[in-house]
Amino acid sequence: MLIVKTCFMYTTLLTDLSDNIFTITINRPDKLNALNKQVIEDLGKAIDEVYANAAIKSAIITGSGPKAFVAGADISEFTTLDASGGKALAQRGQESVFNKIENSPKPFVAAVNGFALGGGCELAMACHFRLAADNARFGQPEVNLGLVPGYGGTQRLTQLAGKGRAMELMMTGNMIDAAEALRLGLVNHVTAPADLLAKTREILQTINTKAPLAIQHIISLTNTAARGEAGGLQKEINAFGELFDTTDAKEGAAAFLEKRKPVFKGK
Ligand code: COA
Repeated sequence: MLIVKTCFMYTTLLTDLSDNIFTITINRPDKLNALNKQVIEDLGKAIDEVYANAAIKSAIITGSGPKAFVAGADISEFTTLDASGGKALAQRGQESVFNKIENSPKPFVAAVNGFALGGGCELAMACHFRLAADNARFGQPEVNLGLVPGYGGTQRLTQLAGKGRAMELMMTGNMIDAAEALRLGLVNHVTAPADLLAKTREILQTINTKAPLAIQHIISLTNTAARGEAGGLQKEINAFGELFDTTDAKEGAAAFLEKRKPVFKGK
């Protein structure tokens, strides 16, 4: 396995780049990896690194310790917030982290290794898909604090689980286990905790062999559909056509006809 350490150091994250997969581990296990200002700032920089570093083909987000992926926004930072402070917190987080993950041209996958509550569930949902360990628990408990989700939960939970299930989860604040999350389509696979990262990496290793520009279009087109934006079919026609002008599409067809594996270059 080729291991390349990245040059950035983060206060609240551990990062590792190996086999072109960048693993971001949120590292506040004593606070169940709650998202404070510093974590949001570090995550924003780590996502920028994914966008900018050509050696990174895909990314995993996970949590440190055996108990939590992320147990939500850091509630201790809520006590001094007023309306404008709350709005700024949500806006900053959505713009610098959550939307940037969703719109990334490179795949982001959440490996949910325990509690994914509030902002943690929202962080997992901003990723392109999710795997969960069998001890994972999902929920949007903001209602217990007199609040609503602020990092995209009302939108992305509705997209993933449907209106009725999203309403019930957000209005009750109840948690669901990994099996229920699988049933709802919130996660794609459930593994033993010890197998979670290996299974996630196995899927990304397959994706990393594919043509990067096709992957980029798949992300963008699927996001268009999930958000219910207009013009998705026309965007698909345009993308399908544009890709024929790429070296990788020519390589893909040639490799098929020559009965060999394609070598894609992202061009
Ligand atoms: N913000 C800040 N601190 C948090 C936190 C959060 N969202 N979630 C957990 N922590 C802290 C706890 O305060 C505790 O810190 P302490 O040891 O200094 O007291 C530590 O993490 C461990 O949590 P604890 O509550 O003791 O663990 P538990 O196993 O008894 O319960 C949870 C686990 C996840 C059920 C519980 O921590 C919880 O409900 N957290 C808040 C979830 C939430 O509402 N998230 C949405 C926020 S908008």
